[in-house]
Amino acid sequence: MAERLERYTAELFAPEDDTLVAIRSRHATEDLPDILISAAEGRLIHVLLRAVGAVRVLEVGTLGGYSGVWIARALPAAGRLITIERDARHAAVARRAFADAGVADRVELCIGAALDVLPTLSGPFDAVFLDADKENLPAYYDWSLRLLRVGGLLLCDNAFFAGGVVDSGDRSAGAEGVRTINQRAATDARLVASIVPVRDGLLVGLKVAD
Ligand code: SAH
Ligand code: DHB
Ligand code: MG
Repeated sequence: MAERLERYTAELFAPEDDTLVAIRSRHATEDLPDILISAAEGRLIHVLLRAVGAVRVLEVGTLGGYSGVWIARALPAAGRLITIERDARHAAVARRAFADAGVADRVELCIGAALDVLPTLSGPFDAVFLDADKENLPAYYDWSLRLLRVGGLLLCDNAFFAGGVVDSGDRSAGAEGVRTINQRAATDARLVASIVPVRDGLLVGLKVAD
């Protein structure tokens, strides 16, 4: 049912244009993992970015550029998306996606492990979207809060970890990483946060204090 309702939402609010369809289908033809955000989630991120007037956004985990295109399209012409991808093959596919979508001039693709790239960046960012490996989420969380402006958004995909967050038997580093940042976001005085139950859960936190 949740899936049907998400499809209903996407059909109404987030129909993919030909460019997004092509970018999505390229994941299969280029043998990239099918772990991109959904259109409904992309639209939600778009709305949230517009709500905070986002101009400068950081993404961790580019894959083939699908979420990056959703983000870049939510920015003004002078906006900037800095997106980090460890896998050079994924990055090459993403580069094509940004060109196809006509947003290449707004996107800076950094190839490397996030923990190597993050220390080279300077803030402030209006939003950070975390969607890479889950075991390093606590470190990404710290970097995000450092780089975000007050009034900026912390967005993190897979807040439900495919249900793993409530499976007490799942003690994997990924599950623990997701649980840890959900817990921290829930109790951090610098954030007002919750999880939106879209696809695999989107953690949304508004930074309200330094
Ligand atoms: N945001 C994308 C999906 C990202 S999938 C979308 O919705 O379209 C996760 C990506 O993170 C993969 O491409 C993977 O190679 C990358 N990744 C995993 N660990 C990483 C790390 N430590 N540093 C940078 N990228 C990483
Ligand atoms: C996986 C990772 C993701 O970021 C996602 O959105 C879905 C699945 C995974 O590693 O399985
Ligand atoms: Mg994800």
